Amino acid sequence: MSADLATTVHLASPEDTAALAQALAPLLQPGDVILLAGQIGAGKTHFARAVIQARLSAAGWQEDVPSPTFTIIQTYHDGAAEICHADLYRLTDADEVFELGLADAFHDAICLVEWPDRLGHHAPGNALRLSFAPGNAADARILTIESSSARWDRVIDRLTAPAIEGR
Ligand SMILES: Nc1ncnc2c1ncn2[C@@H]1O[C@H](COP(=O)(O)OP(=O)(O)OP(=O)(O)O)[C@@H](O)[C@H]1O
Ligand SMILES: [Mg+2]
Repeated sequence: MSADLATTVHLASPEDTAALAQALAPLLQPGDVILLAGQIGAGKTHFARAVIQARLSAAGWQEDVPSPTFTIIQTYHDGAAEICHADLYRLTDADEVFELGLADAFHDAICLVEWPDRLGHHAPGNALRLSFAPGNAADARILTIESSSARWDRVIDRLTAPAIEGR
């Protein structure tokens, strides 16, 4: 277990957010769960889309990645891994994660989950937790990165080495 330290990154633009997502994408493997918190319009889908498109494009595929607002879950396959993109805003009962197959996906797929508070106690303890908050300009965001799993320590170091602001 690693200490539960938070890393803060300043994302000055949507391009900054996409660049961070593109840096994370190749480091992911099945069983990795990324929880994306933040209010409506915070940038959760923007980040997830950039992760998914980076992995698909590394495999030679270009695909639209729509927000799963209405479908709740969208799945992709990049040849190496299944990718599960979920938006749980509309979930009314945390136990629906079983009906949706999300509990299995947490073990077998790379999962990107928006509105993870809806998971209640089903939220995996070994997830990487990203939280987007407003920054000091319309296009700026403050991203807080946290995890309780040693798996993510090196990943976080690699992601934030040039842009680290506090730890
Ligand atoms: N630094 C930034 N990082 C990410 N998105 C940004 C940033 N600055 C501006 N944006 C814009 O904010 C919007 C974020 O929309 P997005 O759909 O990603 O939000 P969301 O957090 O998924 O909201 P919802 O809860 O409705 O699903 C996009 O239009 C994006 O271009
Ligand atoms: Mg969204």
